[in-house]
Amino acid sequence: MSEEEPQTPYEILGDQGIKDLAAAFYDAMDELPLAADIRAMHTENLDHVKRMLAAYLTQWMGGPPVYLAIKGTVCLTEPHEPFRIGPKERDQWLACMDEALVRIGASEVLKQMLKQPMYQVAETVRNCEDSTPKNNGPDIIAVG
Ligand code: HEM
Repeated sequence: MSEEEPQTPYEILGDQGIKDLAAAFYDAMDELPLAADIRAMHTENLDHVKRMLAAYLTQWMGGPPVYLAIKGTVCLTEPHEPFRIGPKERDQWLACMDEALVRIGASEVLKQMLKQPMYQVAETVRNCEDSTPKNNGPDIIAVG
C-alpha cells in the first residue's frame, strides 16, 4: 500500500465539511436568481433536504453508508420522480453546487475531482429531455 494513495472527497472534507457543503448548496439555491426554477420545486423550509443531501454526499464521496441506512436504497430516481428535471434544471443544480464549493472554500484540486462525477450524478437525476418554462408549476389555461 502506497502512502501516496489519493484521498477521497470524504477524507478531504470530513463529516462537518460535507454538512457545510450541503447547507451552502441549498443556501445558494435559495439566494441565486439563476436557480429560481429549481428553488420553486422545493418546500419553503430546506432543513430536511439539507440533511438528506449531506447523508447522500457522505456516502457518495466515499464515507460511511448513512443514506442507505436512512432510506434503504441509494437510488435517486424515486425522490425526483414528481419533478420534471431537464437540462436546464440539471444545470441550475450544478451551478448551485459550484457556488457552494466556492462558499466553503474548497480547493481547486477538490473542485476538479468532483466536476465530472457531479455532472454525471446530476445527469442521472435528469428525467426528461427538455422542459418548458411552465412545466414545474400549475398549468396556466389561456382563455380567449
Ligand atoms: C439535477 C437537478 C436536480 C433537481 C432539480 C433536484 C430537485 C430535488 C427536489 C425538488 C427534491 C425534493 C425536495 C423536497 O422534498 O422538498 C430533491 C430531493 C433530493 N435530492 Fe435532488 N435534485 C437534483 C439533483 C440531485 C442530485 C444530483 C443529488 C445528489 C447528488 C440530489 C440529491 C437529493 C436528495 C438526497 C434529496 C432528498 C431525497 C430524500 O428524501 O431521500 N438531487 N431534489
